[in-house]
Amino acid sequence: MAYNHMFLLSSLVVLAALHGIHAVEYVVTNNAENSTGGVRFNNDIGIEYSRQTLVSATEFIWRLFQQNTPADRKDVQRVTLIIENTDGIAYAENDEIHVNANYIKEYSGDLKGEFTGVLYHEMTHIWQWNGNGQTPGGLIEGIADFVRLKANYIPSHWVQPGQGDRWDQGYDVTARFLDYCNSLRNGFVAELNKKMRSGYSADFFVELLRNNVDQLWTDYKAKYGN
Ligand SMILES: *[C@@H]1O[C@H](CO)[C@@H](O)[C@H](O)[C@H]1NC(C)=O
Repeated sequence: MAYNHMFLLSSLVVLAALHGIHAVEYVVTNNAENSTGGVRFNNDIGIEYSRQTLVSATEFIWRLFQQNTPADRKDVQRVTLIIENTDGIAYAENDEIHVNANYIKEYSGDLKGEFTGVLYHEMTHIWQWNGNGQTPGGLIEGIADFVRLKANYIPSHWVQPGQGDRWDQGYDVTARFLDYCNSLRNGFVAELNKKMRSGYSADFFVELLRNNVDQLWTDYKAKYGN
């Protein structure tokens, strides 16, 4: 009995240690707390909601990308979200997500929904593979917005399906196109992301969908009468 207890205890310690190695830590900092945008962040969004959203976005992305074990994922131990007065909307760099407090201040509409969508987009940049820097920027941004699309945080200003000029235009245009590709083969975007772990080739589209990307774009445009 004592032996069993010892065994159970040591198993728990090992489990805790394993969990500790792989658990991601999330830190949220409001560096703009004395400005109008920072105050609005505290009132309408808050540190705790942000932290929970970082957790749920990560779980959503791992599931969507079919990254079921730590070996499938990027080795990231800590993700930091920083609210600060800067330019633009948001960006991700060095496992940090920066959101502009001025954008929060100016935003009219469903601020919490918009903020959540922005976090899903930026969190995708934390976890997605970039083909060792070879993946076109438009595809990188398109995958981040594809995640936002699948999580159903779609801003009203987005293009409709079938709109846009080029498959690699980025953001909403590429996200809608990737959604079409994903409808041809369920899990396409997950498999494309896996292939980009070590490099990038336009042939990935041919390998997964038996068509080159320009033909796929033509078919996509035709489907929506363009
Ligand atoms: C906000 O103002 C308070 C009081 O002056 C100060 O202690 C605090 O450091 C300020 N916060 C930031 C992020 O600058």
